[in-house]
Parts: sequence; C-alpha cells; structure tokens
Amino acid sequence: MKILVTGGAGFIGSAFVRMAAAEGMHIEMCDKMTYAADILRVDSVKSSISVHTADIADTGAMDAIFSSTMPDAVVHFAAETHVDRSIMNPDEFVRTNVTGTATLLRLAAKYKIKKFVHISTDEVYGDLPADTNLKFTETDPLMPNSPYAASKASADMFVRSYIKTFGLPALIVRPSNNYGPWQYPEKLIPLTIAKALLGEKMPVYGKGDNVRTWLFVDDCANGILDLLKNGAAGEIYNIGSHEERKNIEVITSILDIMKADKNLIEFVPDRPGHDFRYAVETDKINSATGWKSRIEFEEGLFRTVNWYLDNKEWLLRKKSEVEGFVKALMAQYAKGKQSN
Ligand code: NAD
Ligand code: DAU
Repeated sequence: MKILVTGGAGFIGSAFVRMAAAEGMHIEMCDKMTYAADILRVDSVKSSISVHTADIADTGAMDAIFSSTMPDAVVHFAAETHVDRSIMNPDEFVRTNVTGTATLLRLAAKYKIKKFVHISTDEVYGDLPADTNLKFTETDPLMPNSPYAASKASADMFVRSYIKTFGLPALIVRPSNNYGPWQYPEKLIPLTIAKALLGEKMPVYGKGDNVRTWLFVDDCANGILDLLKNGAAGEIYNIGSHEERKNIEVITSILDIMKADKNLIEFVPDRPGHDFRYAVETDKINSATGWKSRIEFEEGLFRTVNWYLDNKEWLLRKKSEVEGFVKALMAQYAKGKQSN
C-alpha cells in the first residue's frame, strides 16, 4: 500500500513512519518542516521513504504531490499541536489545522483516495470533572476549550462532512496524551527532563492536579497502523491507555528517576481555560482491531527519561529554542485571562 503521511517529521507522525516503513509500506512523507519538525526523527528509515517539503494548506503544492505520487491512503498527522501556543497565537492553528485539513480532504476526494485516516485528539471532547470515573466515548459531543482543541474539532467536522457529502472513505482517530522519545520539549514530559538536567525551576500550572491519560508513542502509532488496515470508514476511534496521572505525579516521578531536587518544582499561574482531566474509552478500537496499549506508564517513563539522557545534546538544543517562548508565556499567564 502506498501511503501519504502528513506531519511525518513530527513526534507521533515519525513514530508511525518508522513503524510503517519497517513493515515495508511505501511511504511518501509530507511536512512543512515547522519549528516542531525534525527530519532526524526518520533518519533510521530515510533510505526507504520519500520526503516532500510542503504546506498542507497550499493547494497547488499538495495537488502536485497527490498527482505525482498517487497514494492509496492518507494518514494525516500534520498540525499545530501546542495548546499554549494556540493561546498566544491562534491564527496559525486555524490555517494549518482547519484550512490545511479541508485542503487535504478536497484533494483526497479528487484523487479517489481509498482510505483517509485523520488524527484528531481527545481534547475535542472538552474536559472531565474531578472525582468521577467518567470517560469520553466516540459519541460524546464536541466541547473544545482551547483554540487548539477548537481547530481540531473544526477539522473533525470537515472530515465528517466529506464522509457524508462526498462518500470519502475517511475515519477519525482521537488519541490521548502521547509521550516517549523525540517529543519536542515544549510539552510537559521532555520539558521537565530538560529543566531537571539544567537544574532549572519547573513551571507547574495551577496546583499541578490536572489529570492526563498517558499513552506511549509506539502504542499510539501501532493503534493508528491497525486502524489504517482494519478500521472502518466513517467511524471514529479513541486511542488511549488507562494510565491517568496528575501532572504533579508525573513531574515527581521524573525527578525521582533522575534523582533530581524536588525544590525545582515551581507553581505558576494557571493556563487559561486549562482542561482538568481527559480519559477515553477504548473498547471500540479494541473490538475493531484487537488493539490495546501495551506499555505501562512506569516502564514507558523510565525508557523515555533514559532516551533523553542518551540524547541530551538533541534535547538541550531543542530546549534552548523554546526558552524565549516559555518566558513570554509565563509573563502572559501572570497577567491572567486577557488575550494579547
Ligand atoms: P508535532 O507538533 O510533534 O508535529 C506536527 C508536525 O506537523 C510537524 O512535523 C510540523 O512541521 C508539521 N506541520 C505543521 N504545520 C504543517 C503544515 N501547515 N503543513 C505540513 N506540515 C505541517 O505533533 P505531534 O505531537 O506529533 O501530533 C501529531 C498529531 O497528533 C496532531 O494532529 C495532533 O493534534 C495529534 N495528537 C497529538 C497528541 C500528543 O500528545 N502529542 C495527542 C493526541 C493527538
Ligand atoms: O490530550 C491530547 C493532547 O495532549 C494533544 O492533542 C496535544 O497536541 C498535546 O500537546 C497534549 O496537550 P496537553 O496540553 O495535555 O499537553 P502539555 O504537555 O502541553 O501539558 C500537559 C499538562 O501539563 C497540562 O495539564 C498542562 C501542564 N503543564 C504543561 C507545561 C508545558 C504544566 O503544568 N507546565 C508546563 O510547563
């Protein structure tokens, strides 16, 4: 099968590309190479993939890629993905996540793609309250709270419209928080590891009691591969683990593994509109494909910390790129809910 993978130089997209290439799939990868991309992530499979540098919102460039490669399937990861950046600058999220997805859908219909796998997020459902065991199911309403989540929910609506109006054989995947090697250190886990290495204060939003469900990136990539092969067109599938942790527990576990000083923890003003808890039901993907998450959080976190320690130079180089952004963000959050 020939697959066009968008966002393949990103964190999850590259894990998927490495896995699919190892299975011998023909991969045409397309990425705009934004600050979040790194071609090094797919270096291990570079001889067996083709790379196209293009913006998914650029109709002409994308049409040329579709017409020259004629893929059977599209697996669409490309997105602006950081919630804090969407609070500071929402416009790029509309352009890439909404216009970019709509552009790909139009071309997928034009070139009669046999399967379109759209990577969404559990954040489209909004958040869950404390002290309940509630979990999001695929039929729950979309109640996005951040500009990022709103842009992803809009993209999901466009996918739905192409399924209903044009009969596009598309499906939507909604993963929970991923972690693992190669994640850009603007996100909680690699940022904590980088700050612990440098002996810098770790900014914990609010009280640190917000809850996320952590899924090892290879488990996620594996689930997406299963859905590419066996997921039904027109359907939505959550992907997640049962590994719910408060942020403060995640940070403390990292500091424990690294034997770092707990005094590095610093509580800072909360992220505006901060979703409290995400948790997803995963029975549907399990029934459709047999998929289940395999890697327990303690094992995955240990592997992850050790990967970053072995790749310290990469981590600290990327961390130095985000310093200015984090400083501006903290100043903005200190001002409260007003937008800039
Ligand atoms: P990432 O930020 O690491 O990578 C995104 C990739 O998309 C980058 O390589 C970037 O260059 C590329 N990109 C951005 N704008 C583009 C454009 N206009 N045209 C072409 N390429 C562009 O993201 P990630 O964490 O790997 O997330 C991948 C997908 O999974 C996203 O759709 C995200 O919403 C979704 N998701 C992520 C998580 C998570 O925890 N990381 C969880 C659930 C869902
Ligand atoms: O749930 C899936 C989503 O998970 C994906 O769709 C997003 O693309 C991905 O970025 C992630 O969003 P989160 O906002 O949950 O991830 P982040 O790593 O930014 O933050 C995780 C939690 O940690 C969140 O409650 C905010 C908190 N946090 C984060 C940072 C960066 C802090 O307390 N301090 C920080 O410095």
